[in-house]
Amino acid sequence: MDERIIATNEQFGDDWQYSLRPRRLSEYIGQEKAKKNLSIFVKAALNRREALDHVLLYGPPGLGKTTLAAIIANELAVNFRQTSGPAIERAGDLAAILTNLQPRDVLFIDEIHRLSRQVEEILYSAMEDFALDIIIGKGPRAKSIRVNISPFTLIGATTKAGALSPPLRDRFGVISRLEYYSNDALLEIITRAAEILKIPIEFNGALEIAKRSRGTPRIANRLLKRVRDFAQVENSAKITDEIANRALFALEVDEKGLDHTDRRMLDAMIKKFRGGPVGLETIAASISETRETIEDIYEPYLLQLGFIMRTPRGRVVTEAGYHHMGVNFPKKDDSPSLFDFED
Ligand code: ADE
Repeated sequence: MDERIIATNEQFGDDWQYSLRPRRLSEYIGQEKAKKNLSIFVKAALNRREALDHVLLYGPPGLGKTTLAAIIANELAVNFRQTSGPAIERAGDLAAILTNLQPRDVLFIDEIHRLSRQVEEILYSAMEDFALDIIIGKGPRAKSIRVNISPFTLIGATTKAGALSPPLRDRFGVISRLEYYSNDALLEIITRAAEILKIPIEFNGALEIAKRSRGTPRIANRLLKRVRDFAQVENSAKITDEIANRALFALEVDEKGLDHTDRRMLDAMIKKFRGGPVGLETIAASISETRETIEDIYEPYLLQLGFIMRTPRGRVVTEAGYHHMGVNFPKKDDSPSLFDFED
């Protein structure tokens, strides 16, 4: 599953994408709303010579949360320290990072919803008062001492804003949601990446890749590289729409960006469960996946496309979903009635 070319998680071999990352807000394509707000807050913080308020970025994986956080640090002309929820095992690990920050530095914590409770508690006073409460000793003689740290900006990123504890969420002054990118924005991102990587590509070739990138730059860049391989092997000087189509067909990525597994799931829902409603557990069992994999990986994009819907009784394939799979949408009630005669 992790090998899916349309996977949104960062994969082994994606490192080359770092060279494509924009360094300034002005180079960052799309996410206009988040960009506009952040540029105002950054300017205001710079004017006041203060640390920027803590920022929470949330949204599906692969949309550029880390890139945006690094850009903010760059725009503020401060250091960018990067870690992640699962990487911080003990409260002491976080305390060590926090005490080493310079004034106004940006500390980026990816997957912040995965911090342990004890680690999270250290963050409360750090974010609010720029102080750490450290307990020395044990039992009745234990003492709490307060250590000041430099004013800093915490940028937290999460794919699951709902999984964040309310006390932590409340300590972010700026909460910004990243959205799936439009095809136009992806087209620009692909064109920019092709230019940097010196890959000749025609407008229509880039458009074909954009349409199949699931609104996600990480996927767009990965597809661009795979399509380039096809162009090279076919001795084509440029990526045309024809080459892009052929390559993406060979990679089993269809015209909406669905891969083999997405289609297997839709197919099972239509053929085995008459389009639903069907529970997640049942869908998962029928295609030998886990419930979590379906919920976190396959479902979000199918929901976004409007190919499936969530209902209280389970998931349902929509008319658009049937249409995409080339199956006729059943009429509301096509169960045989008393008046249906066959002669
Ligand atoms: N590469 C990946 N995401 C990007 C973005 N939002 N803007 C420009 N280049 C990108």
